[in-house]
Amino acid sequence: MISGTDICVELGRKTILDGVNFQAQAGQLTAIVGPNGSGKTTLLRALTGEQSYRGEITFGGKPLDRLSPLDLAARRAVLPQAANIAFPFTVLELVRLGLVAGLNGDTPEERDRRPAQALARVGLEGYGGRLVQELSGGERQRAQLARVLVQIWEPVFEGQPRFLFLDEPVSALDIGHQLMIMHLARDYAEAGGGVIAIMHDLNLTSMFADQVTLLGDGHVRASGTPEDVLTDHALSTCYGCPLRTNTAPTTGRPWILPQAALRAGHG
Ligand SMILES: Nc1ncnc2c1ncn2[C@@H]1O[C@H](COP(=O)(O)OP(=O)(O)OP(=O)(O)O)[C@@H](O)[C@H]1O
Ligand SMILES: [Mg+2]
Repeated sequence: MISGTDICVELGRKTILDGVNFQAQAGQLTAIVGPNGSGKTTLLRALTGEQSYRGEITFGGKPLDRLSPLDLAARRAVLPQAANIAFPFTVLELVRLGLVAGLNGDTPEERDRRPAQALARVGLEGYGGRLVQELSGGERQRAQLARVLVQIWEPVFEGQPRFLFLDEPVSALDIGHQLMIMHLARDYAEAGGGVIAIMHDLNLTSMFADQVTLLGDGHVRASGTPEDVLTDHALSTCYGCPLRTNTAPTTGRPWILPQAALRAGHG
């Protein structure tokens, strides 16, 4: 389990996170949602040890700041919101960057096969020899995810659950690939790992998340199941626009429609 208590972050004399409490369990997909600038990426970076903070964060019961870089690499992998590739890497070279010897207990032969397996899981079979800079935006996002996957390929290793931290993993993807990647994230959780995903698509969040934390202006505005959190009031207040929640007939989960028709001049 990952647990954050009273997390505060200040950047450039501005309070970005103010007393945030957050928990994520292995075996679950935990979504973080909220408007632009609400502090989602900052929270993720605090939880992964990339952002200094006040408060307490524990990972499997151990304080985050007591874990060595290798311990961290063995327990969690991070897909950043944006990653620039400065060198003309091929897709295979990019994915291989995620391989750290000894983290998955596999033989050198198994490790050699991992990048191709990861590319297949993100729908990029046959892309290994392509230059990353020549990929489309959605292909590049999936290639980065393959790099993250090979780092902690086994969702549970030596009895320890691993965690994927994904900052907007489907932001550049078409609907088919959105579903592919959300299923991949769910499969990781169902195999015993944990997934923490920042999401802007509230309907995908509702369909796939076990738990949701709604951030607004550096505070937790709601947290719980999608049914608890994705309510008309909480969403409309937090996003500052009229949103109407209904229940999807097939899944029983909330689905959210913007009430654009409420604006004059749009019917
Ligand atoms: N280095 C910095 N110095 C000052 N303010 C910063 C810095 N980095 C981020 N911020 C501010 O912190 C706030 C939260 O940023 P963060 O990236 O966490 O937002 P977010 O919720 O991930 O937004 P988005 O949905 O746009 O990705 C923003 O208002 C941002 O401008
Ligand atoms: Mg962000």
